[in-house]
Amino acid sequence: MADLDDLREGSKFNTDIAVQNQAFHIKGASHLGWGMKDRLTRIFNAKTGKAVMLAFDHGFIMGPTSGLERIDLTITPLMEYADCLMCSRGILQTSVPANINKPICLRADAGSTILTELNDNVVIDIEDAVRMNVSAMAVMLAIGDPKMEAKTVANLYHAANQGAKYGIPVMGVTAVGKEMARDARYFGLASRVAAENGANIVKTYYCDGFSNVVAACPVPVVIAGGKKLPELEALDLCYRAINDGAAGVDMGRNVFQSESPIAMIQAVHAVVHEGLDPHKAFEMFNDLKK
Ligand code: 5RP
Repeated sequence: MADLDDLREGSKFNTDIAVQNQAFHIKGASHLGWGMKDRLTRIFNAKTGKAVMLAFDHGFIMGPTSGLERIDLTITPLMEYADCLMCSRGILQTSVPANINKPICLRADAGSTILTELNDNVVIDIEDAVRMNVSAMAVMLAIGDPKMEAKTVANLYHAANQGAKYGIPVMGVTAVGKEMARDARYFGLASRVAAENGANIVKTYYCDGFSNVVAACPVPVVIAGGKKLPELEALDLCYRAINDGAAGVDMGRNVFQSESPIAMIQAVHAVVHEGLDPHKAFEMFNDLKK
C-alpha cells in the first residue's frame, strides 16, 4: 500500500476553465483510437505533420538489388536520419538493431518475385506484427490488374480489419503495372480505393495533377521515389510532391543508390520538413557529401 503519511487533498480543480480538446494533426485520423494515433504520430512528426520514410523492402521481391546487398553497411548508417523504416520482417529481425527506437512500417504482404507475374500475395499474421511492435503494416494493391485486383483489395481489407483490432495502421501501396497509366486519374482512383478499403496511409507515385490525387484521398499520401534519378531531380520531385499536399516520402533507391546516401537523406529531410527549395537542398547535399 502507498505511504498515506501527509496525503494532500487535491484543491486546484479550475472549474472555471473548460477542458482543452486538441485537434489531431493527421488527416483522416481524428476518429481513430489512441493506439492508432500514437503509432501514426511516431511516423508523422507532430509539428510538421510530415514524414521521411526510408524504404528498403525491395529485396522481398527483387533479391539483393543495388545498394541493398549489405543492409548492415549501407542502410544501418542512414537509419538515424529517417522518421520511419520500411522493410520486410526478415530484414527487420536480422538487420535492424532492436535498440534503434524508430517506428517500423512492416512490408506485410509477400508471395511473388520479379521472376514471375504478380501472384497470390498473402498478408502476414497480425500476431507477428504485434510481436515486432511495428507502427504500420504496408500492403500492396494492384488496381487495374485483372488477375490480382480483387485478391489484393481483399488483402488490404483483411489487413485493415486486423490492424484495427490491435491499433496498427495500414499503408496501402499502389502498384504500377506495365499496362497501367501513370497519371492522376489512375493514381487518384487507386489511392481512393485504398483509403475506402481501410488504409490509414496511402503510398503512391508523383504525377501531373498530383494535388487532385491528394485532395480526393481522405488519409495522408506519401510518394515512392521510383527509379534512381540525378539528385537534383529527386529533390525536385520531393519538393513538388510536398507542395502539392503529400504528407511525406517513402523513398528507397533515390536515397540508398545516391552517390552519398547520408547527404541525400538529410537533404530530403530538409525539403519534406522545412520546405527547402530543391536548389538549396541540392547545395546542402553537395556540402554534406564533401
Ligand atoms: C514497392 C515499394 C517500395 O518500397 C517502393 O517502391 C519505394 O522505393 P523506391 O523509392 O525505390 O521506389 O513499396 O512496392
